[in-house]
Order: sequence, then structure tokens, then C-alpha cells
Amino acid sequence: MAPRVFVARRLPVDAAAFLEGDAEVDVFEAPRPPTPDELRARAAPCRAIVSLLSDRIDDALLAACPELELIANYAVGVDNVDLAAAKARGVRVTNTPDVLTDATADLTWALLLAVARRLREGERVARSGDIGAWQPTGLLGLELAGATLGVFGFGRIGRAVARRAQGFGMRVLYTTRSPVPEAEREGAAPVSKAELLARADVLCLCAPLTPETRHAVGAPELAAMKPGAILVNTARGALVDEAALVQALDAGPLRGAGLDVFEEEPKVHPGLLERDDVVLSPHIGSATEHTRRRMAEIALGNVRAHLRGEPLLTPV
Ligand code: DGY
Repeated sequence: MAPRVFVARRLPVDAAAFLEGDAEVDVFEAPRPPTPDELRARAAPCRAIVSLLSDRIDDALLAACPELELIANYAVGVDNVDLAAAKARGVRVTNTPDVLTDATADLTWALLLAVARRLREGERVARSGDIGAWQPTGLLGLELAGATLGVFGFGRIGRAVARRAQGFGMRVLYTTRSPVPEAEREGAAPVSKAELLARADVLCLCAPLTPETRHAVGAPELAAMKPGAILVNTARGALVDEAALVQALDAGPLRGAGLDVFEEEPKVHPGLLERDDVVLSPHIGSATEHTRRRMAEIALGNVRAHLRGEPLLTPV
């Protein structure tokens, strides 16, 4: 009998066609994540699953799936997977690195620019049908040339964000876990987290979510940020203490925030919803046609490689 594979959402690539001859594929077709019960029931008879970042893969799930050998996560982040539990049970894990770097860096810049140039307010004015008299003092934003970009987490995406800053004439500082060779620094300078907070006019969060980075930006960090600074988060919502962010925005002196990811996804903190100084997007960092397709090819390619006994494309 062909091995069974569960794909937890419809992908931009036809999973059954991709794995034809290698597996019998069960795709969760609803436009919502499977509930934990649905996930357990559908994954239980499978040798591999393609999971999404909203699917919690914990030890209880693994225990209910005795056949499971591979979790192919359709994301670069793997914070939804209990890696220690998977390792203990001999289940391999893959992700989708590299292919989403540029798309995510682009979206980071889209949010950065939207906040810096107050596009949310400007859009609303223009859509009223009357932009009013041209004002020397109207909707003044932050000039990026000569300003300092701080990148928290200088992996592939952080470096791609830094690379784009060169075109805007920004100075770039970063802080990250392990030393980065000079040749890969994109002209950016390593600094301590305290210095990053104190000097950045724009702080972009590009680190994975781990126990160490959870609430990396909380009340003390927000208080330590440069007055008038902008915070942009396209990594994982829980890097930021959202309640503290709302308080910091209320109290000043932050200029604003651009957020693509949220602490309690799919929920957005109600205190963020009505603010003009916050630009929000619904976790779409990797959402280009090209990137989402490549992510699918990699996730399914990992499944196929595993079932054929070939080396995995992108093991975690
Ligand atoms: C990821 O891959 O981790 C993103 O958040 C979704 O593409």
C-alpha cells in the first residue's frame, strides 16, 4: 500500500500530482486550519505531514501518530513544532528557508515605508475625494536617508532587509546570536541590544521565535528605544509584548509600528486596530505567487525525498 501523507491546507502546487506514484495524499481542503482533533485524526495514519505555521505539532500529536516519520513545515519558522519531542520520537523536520527571504524583506520595507511616510493617514485623506490644500506642514514623516536602521536577528532575512537599506542611504546596525563574517554584513555594524535600541530610528525584528527571543521587545526595551523610532515586526508576533507596545504607543515617544505578525494569531490586539500610527498586514511576508509556490515545491520535495530514501532538501 502507498504511504499516506497529510497536507494540512491546500497549497499553490497540486500535492497529489506532485507526489503521484510516491504517496496517497490527503489534503485538508477547508479554508481554515484543522482543529487539533481533525489534525490528529487525519495525521494518525500518515508517514509524513505537511504542516503550516498555525498547526501545533506537539508531543501529544506525535504520540497519536505512530506511523509519522516526517514533518515538512510549510514555513521557515518552526516554532509551531516541538523539535525536542520530534527528535525524541525519531521524527524528522524540514522547513522552507531561502525562497522566502526576498519576499519577506520586501514586505518589511513596505511596512517600514508606510509607517515612516504615514501612508495610512495619507490614504484615508486621498480616499475622501478631496486632498485639501497642499500644506508645508501636512503629514510630515521620517526622512530615511541618513537615519539608522537597527536589525534584530541578522540571518538571511535580516541581511536582506539590511541590503535594501543601502539603497535608501541608511546606516545599519544589527544584533544577532552568533558572529557574522565581515563579508556577509551588508555594510552593517554589530552592536549590543542596548545600543541597537538606543540608536535605531527604525528597528526591524527578523529573529526566529525561541524561548530566548519571546518578548525580546517588551516594556523595558520599548522604553529604551530612541524617541521617534519605528518598530517593524515581520518575524513572529511573540517577539513583541503587544500590550506593552500599545502602552508605549499611547504614551509616546514611539513614532509608530508596522506589524505583519501578532502575538495571538489569528487575533490582533484590539489596542492596535484603530491607530493611525500603526500599519498592519495579515502575516503575508512570504505571500508572493513565486515564493508561495517555491515553498510548496520544497515542502513536498522534502516529503518525496524522504519517501524515496533520498537526502532531505532542507532538514531543520
Ligand atoms: C515563515 O515561513 O516562517 C513565514 O512566517 C511564513 O512564510
